[in-house]
Order: sequence, then C-alpha cells, then structure tokens
Amino acid sequence: MLRVGFTGWRGMVGSVLLERMREENDFAGIEPMFFSTSNVGGAAPQEARDGGALKDAKNLRELASCEVLLSCHGGDYTTEIYGALRKNGWKGFWMDAASTLRMSDDAVIVLDPVNADVIRDGLARGVRTFTGGNCTVSLMLMAVGGLFRARLVEWMTTMTYQAASGAGAAKMMELVRQMECLTDPTRATPSQNALEVERMMIEAQRALSLPTKEFGAPLAGSLLPWIDRDMPGGQTREEWKGMAEASKIMGLEPPVPIDGICVRVGTMRCHSQGLCIKLSKNVPLADVEQILSNSNPWVRLIPNERESSIRCLTPTAVSGTLNVAIGRLHKLKLGPEFLGAFTVGDQLLWGAAEPLRRMLGILREHVGN
Ligand code: HSE
Repeated sequence: MLRVGFTGWRGMVGSVLLERMREENDFAGIEPMFFSTSNVGGAAPQEARDGGALKDAKNLRELASCEVLLSCHGGDYTTEIYGALRKNGWKGFWMDAASTLRMSDDAVIVLDPVNADVIRDGLARGVRTFTGGNCTVSLMLMAVGGLFRARLVEWMTTMTYQAASGAGAAKMMELVRQMECLTDPTRATPSQNALEVERMMIEAQRALSLPTKEFGAPLAGSLLPWIDRDMPGGQTREEWKGMAEASKIMGLEPPVPIDGICVRVGTMRCHSQGLCIKLSKNVPLADVEQILSNSNPWVRLIPNERESSIRCLTPTAVSGTLNVAIGRLHKLKLGPEFLGAFTVGDQLLWGAAEPLRRMLGILREHVGN
C-alpha cells in the first residue's frame, strides 16, 4: 500500500482535505502517516495505521520513509523541507497547496478535470512534484477551461470578488468580528432611518476599536482592492498568477493574455469572478453554453435571468459544494466576439483541497496501488 505522509492537515485546507477523503473512503487504499510541526507525539487522526502518534514534520528521515508527502502547510514549510528532502536523494512524490514550487519546471500544477493530459505527460516524464494551483485560477478554469481547450480564448479579463478564507482562518474570524462590531451600535440605538443607521455603521467601521490586525483595514461592509504583494507594472501577485498559472495548467503555448483586478470582499469561502472573454471568433452563445456544460461534471450553467442568478449564482448557494456555477453568459455590447460571464466556486474545495485529493488517487493508479 502507498505510504502517504500528511502534514498541515489540521489547518483549514488540510481539514477540508481529510473531510473529503473520509467522505470518499480514500484512506482505505493507503497507509497514512500523520506529521506535525507543533504536537509531535500527540494523538493522530483515527486513520493512522501505526498506533496513532504524530510524527515530527521536520524529521527528514521519517518524512523520507513515505512514498508520497502531502503538505497543506504554507510556502515556508515547503521552502524549508522540500529542497532538503530532494538534496538527500528522496525520490517520492511531493504534493502541496503552496505557491513556492508551482512555476518550477520540475512541478506540474494539478487540476485533473482540466489538465489530466498535462498530469499524465508529467508522470510519464518522471515528474514527482505536484502542486495545487492558486484558488482563483483553478476555479476560473473549472468554469471556462472548456473554452481554452477549444482554443477559443484570444484574451480574458477577470475581475475577482475573493472570500476571506483565501487569506486564512484568522482572516475569516476577523471578518466575523468586524461584522459584529458594525451591527452592535444599530442594536444599541435602534433606528428605522436608513441614513442614521448608515452613519452608525460607518462610524463603527472607522473606529479605532474595529479589529483590523489581520486585514489592516475594515472589510465588513466594504472591500479591499488589493490581494498579495505588488509586482512590477502595477499588478498584484494574485493578478500576475492569473496568466502565469492558467497557461501552465493548460499547457497553453503561447500563453493566453489574462489580467484583471483582484478584490477581497466580505464573503467567507467562495470566490467569484466577473469575466470578459475575447473569443477568437464569433461563436454562437448556444455553442459556448454547450462547450462549458460538457467540459466537466461539476460545472453548473445558470440561466441568464434574474431568479436563477440570485438563487444559484451566489456564494451563499455554492458554498460547501463541489459545484462551480457559471452564469450571466451573454455577448457584451463591445461586439459579437466579446463574452461576459460570472462564476462562483468554493475556494476550499476546488480551489484547494479537491485537486490534491484527486491527484492522490491518480498517483495510486500510476504506481499500481
Ligand atoms: N491567494 C488566494 C486568496 C488564495 O488570497 O484568496 C488561494 O490561492
């Protein structure tokens, strides 16, 4: 049985991964080992086959006894451990959810409903490093990857509405605390006057007492038009990833231009994106719809009308599901080759845990386990 070492499994992405693996009975076919950076010797999850004590996630010898290592830690852990393991000659499969190795020539970014061929080619070439993609990019490709595959995209803009979960658990908690602070004054001094209520809320948002340690600014009742660090040319790194990662995931040569503005909004775990796609030719809308709905089993095409859009094309509707909703599909007034669309997906599922869970299944098949 394939021996798989899990690290970072207690965090948010790791917890969702384990939950999905339990749902799909994935532990039945592997020999899981659980590592920890903070609780070595503590109790491992019930699936641990070896008595259940957590192993040291910094112990290279113990890590190297695994044929697969799956890290849900951030990039710092990958930076510290991955190079040292490879330098010591470890030839196992490394999988992680961090951005550290994504653009390396030795790594394939995994999103098998979209790039199973790229993954297969990688395995055949002897690639042993597989990373999950940036959540926004993965969710965008789950929605419109079919159009890229059909070589119908000349360029695309993505205007994102990204959830707090993409920035981590502490940020989600701060968002909720901010929401409480915003509504507290309106409960203390009830009013039916919308302008009075608005004044109370803006005062609460601007108050020094509002918790902003995580985001650095109020997010509840507002938005933050900046994600990650800056890059040359005015982009943020989150925006830079759109074109770089999408082209790598799909093996697009030459790369397709993709750019836009990435914005943090006050949702919990669903990322949404408004897309403007310049098609390479005037494709009828019905053909576009067919390509999209046939591209993978998780895409949900939402009719471009009010009721369906406000019921099914929202973070509230999609959160906690594997569905990737795409709707508001219509030709923009810019011309017949300009397609408008809006898509919503769960940032922790297809945006993070699910591609890794499925890659583990692909590895098991690959090694004949
Ligand atoms: N960078 C993303 C975000 C997280 O901040 O929402 C997932 O890649």
